[in-house]
Amino acid sequence: MTRRSILVGTGSALPRTRVSNDELAKRVDTSDEWIVERTGIRFRHIAEADETTGTLAADAARHALAAAGLVPADIGLIIVATATPDNTFPATATKVQALIGAPDCIAFDVAAVCSGFLYALSVADSMLRTGAAKHALVIGSETFSRILDWEDRGTCVLFGDGAGAVVLSAEEVADDRGILATRLHAEGQYGDMLYVDGGPSTTGTVGHVRMQGREVFRHAVTNLAAVLGEVLADVGLSAADIDWVVPHQANKRIIDATAKKLGLPAERVVLTVDQHANTSAASVPLALDLAVRDGRIRRGDLVVLEAMGGGFTWGAAVLRV
Ligand code: UT7
Repeated sequence: MTRRSILVGTGSALPRTRVSNDELAKRVDTSDEWIVERTGIRFRHIAEADETTGTLAADAARHALAAAGLVPADIGLIIVATATPDNTFPATATKVQALIGAPDCIAFDVAAVCSGFLYALSVADSMLRTGAAKHALVIGSETFSRILDWEDRGTCVLFGDGAGAVVLSAEEVADDRGILATRLHAEGQYGDMLYVDGGPSTTGTVGHVRMQGREVFRHAVTNLAAVLGEVLADVGLSAADIDWVVPHQANKRIIDATAKKLGLPAERVVLTVDQHANTSAASVPLALDLAVRDGRIRRGDLVVLEAMGGGFTWGAAVLRV
């Protein structure tokens, strides 16, 4: 028997307001045609004042707990991956804990931007396997709309708000269910290619997203194909064994190019970027939840998750659901 982290529930939450490319084009110098052709994005959800990273995360967590058949008191660990926390501190994870009514447990945030969910998943997996908790909530939640420069058409059309959550349970298993391997990377020398130009210790302001899009694009395809190869090699499997890839939803062209490099057919790739745009740390768990709820991802499937973002940071995970 092996102690593994098993995926027992997923959930997600989106802000009420959905904005189409045409609506965006009324206030930004852009067009539906340009956005769809360059990114595949058609819609994004934008948070209203009463919707925050914390409230969206709590809603996603409630849905994931219900799917898992668990209650807040069962949870021993809450990790929120976010680059847009409600406050500099306390951690948004503690806000989620209070909102869902979970008693004393471990709760903290992880900051790895778009790869944040992969980082959080890997940390949670390690902690569950070493006995820190029995059940964990791992959440990616963002309100990137709050840190966009709405005058910069090169970035503001690309992002959206939302949250996704999973519940992991530590179980002794005799089969190959659960998280089988994770791989994480960071190369800080590329920090100025995708960053926020503010922060508590530098400008004392929140700042706005800045990006060298073409450079990010180039690194994303190379790094994502490489890390997917690594994580599959770790478990002795190949692209042909994968039932579903749930990629970070930044740009359809990045997703297509990465799948092509690995020889993965488009039918096995979960795509939500058209509906949600890039929701940073929320994008992978949000896409995962949709594919679980619409019946595409079923028990026994081999699923690979991957993401790349600011830092640069990137990572992948392979799990049998
Ligand atoms: O989570 C990871 C984070 N980010 C990413 O993964 C994003 C990675 N990068 C990308 O997805 C792409 O680089 C973008 C979608 C951001 C840009 O696509 P691109 O094909 O690299 O376009 P570009 O930045 O080279 O711009 C091409 C043209 C420029 O005009 P000129 O100089 O050729 O006349 C831009 O000014 O498109 C123009 N442009 C726009 N036009 C209409 C840039 N943004 C827009 C816009 N609407 N929103």
